[in-house]
Amino acid sequence: MKLIFLGPPGAGKGTQATGISASLRVPHISTGDMFRAAVKNQTPMGLRIKEYMESGQLVPDEVVIEMAKERLAEDDCRGGYLLDGFPRTVEQAEALEKFSAPDAVINIEVPDEKLMHRLTGRRVCAKCHGTFHIETLADEKVCPVCGAELIHRDDDKPETIGKRLQVYHEQTAPLIGYYEGNGKLRTVDGDNRPEDVYKAILASLE
Ligand code: AP5
Repeated sequence: MKLIFLGPPGAGKGTQATGISASLRVPHISTGDMFRAAVKNQTPMGLRIKEYMESGQLVPDEVVIEMAKERLAEDDCRGGYLLDGFPRTVEQAEALEKFSAPDAVINIEVPDEKLMHRLTGRRVCAKCHGTFHIETLADEKVCPVCGAELIHRDDDKPETIGKRLQVYHEQTAPLIGYYEGNGKLRTVDGDNRPEDVYKAILASLE
């Protein structure tokens, strides 16, 4: 199955992608993770996109589209994929339809007022990439799964989160109408316990 997770920053796309991709036996492809790796490794693309990411802006369409096209052409995507964070503009969605049209799009809905709390408290493991919230951690610096260091993402500062939400509403939310229009959209209430959101996503795919 070729699946897309759509939703605002902090909706729980990454949290849900781990279990759902394992359940569907497809690779979890996060454009945000790919960009963060490029910035960390200071690749030519990483140097070009760093400022966009740090300020909460979208990376230019042509850069993202080329990267996604190359990634989806790899062997492990032959049986499908779970895309987390792509597409994010109508231009990206139109490009994807041409090189690897998705079967379904899950729109994870969470009210804005909950997102700020989720993102300011998020911690991500530098090693196993697990995602956590400080409210559920005994030690906010140590991964409860593998013991590695937990990171507070640079773009999870309140002022950058505000910008990311604004960018989501202006540039990404129009994709809801786009995928409603071609009959691929399924909407799930993301403002529930993670295990209930997981069940709702699987049920929406039946
Ligand atoms: P990206 O990494 O994709 O960030 P995002 O879309 O803003 O999404 P997040 O990772 O912030 O949130 P999420 O929905 O995965 O939530 P999570 O599961 O972590 O992109 C980063 C940047 O890269 C962009 O700003 C842009 O610059 C660039 N970029 C990437 N793709 C691009 C593209 N296609 N085009 C252009 N630019 C692009 O959960 C968040 C928190 O909530 C965690 O603490 C978690 O524990 C908690 N939580 C999760 N689920 C629940 C729940 N059900 N109840 C309570 N808490 C929960």
